[in-house]
Amino acid sequence: MTTIRKVIIPAAGLGTRLYPITKAQPKEMLPLGRKPAIQIVAEEAVANGLDQILIITGQHKRAIEDHFDIGLNGHSSATNHNFFPNILSNGDVSFFFVRQSRPRGLGDAVAEALPFVGDEPFAVALGDAVITEGGCPAGVLQRMGELFGDRRPAAVVAVRQVPDDAVSSYGVVEPSNGVGEAFSISDIIEKPQPSEAPSNFAVTARYIFSPQIFSYIARTPKDDSGEVQLTDAMRLMLQDGHDIWAVTLASGEIRYDVGNFYEYAKAFIVMALADPEEGTALSQYVKEIVNGRHPAKAANGEEDWE
Ligand code: G1P
Repeated sequence: MTTIRKVIIPAAGLGTRLYPITKAQPKEMLPLGRKPAIQIVAEEAVANGLDQILIITGQHKRAIEDHFDIGLNGHSSATNHNFFPNILSNGDVSFFFVRQSRPRGLGDAVAEALPFVGDEPFAVALGDAVITEGGCPAGVLQRMGELFGDRRPAAVVAVRQVPDDAVSSYGVVEPSNGVGEAFSISDIIEKPQPSEAPSNFAVTARYIFSPQIFSYIARTPKDDSGEVQLTDAMRLMLQDGHDIWAVTLASGEIRYDVGNFYEYAKAFIVMALADPEEGTALSQYVKEIVNGRHPAKAANGEEDWE
């Protein structure tokens, strides 16, 4: 079975949906509880056996390099026990960085990884979406890697079911013959209108590719907004007769993202309330607030809030 060790974490997106928070700082560095989102993504990758990490950065993203830059020269081994305990428990991890000089879409960002990847299969984990299970890194990437090793498709994507009216926010797959924990797909469409969506299984921030993807990205036309979509490159692969499989998130696996304020706020609240040290006290505080009592005023003997 192929052992996949390389993972690309694209983190070059402009984050315009979160302006002004992300006007001059990366959305991937927004905290989810005590850690920036991209650290949780890196820890998930490492927990799934991926220890060679290439992060695709861009303008206003230098904080990401600083965050992981424990060693020298942008290639650092994570040796700081205080900051990276989960990464360290899995052995040595190497970080590499490359810049996407102009924001031209997720497909274009992944194309920057060609010199790093060479001719090996590799994973992609979007830097603005974390997938956890019971507060720990989810195992979906490992299941995807096993399926890749067993069936040798051209690509594997993680999917989950979303409400029909949410399909236009995602890449959406068309199952070839029914669905299950894993299923083959016959088409994939980026952000379809609900009436044109082939299913409600949405692409969920994790991918495994054979290196063939690079030649498909190179011939993928730009979309209407001038971006090269990864989904469109996968669509060309399918049209050429390549096999692509989908792996569904397990029932306990939850995806949180920092792409827009509502999703980010939910993710932060969940992670803060699950904090081992402060979670219980914070939960009590939130309960008081939603019950209409302002804890600070109550402590001062003042009237209830509202
Ligand atoms: C990207 C992909 C999309 C995928 C989504 C979530 O969209 O283009 O196919 O469903 O991530 O993984 P974005 O959220 O960057 O617009």
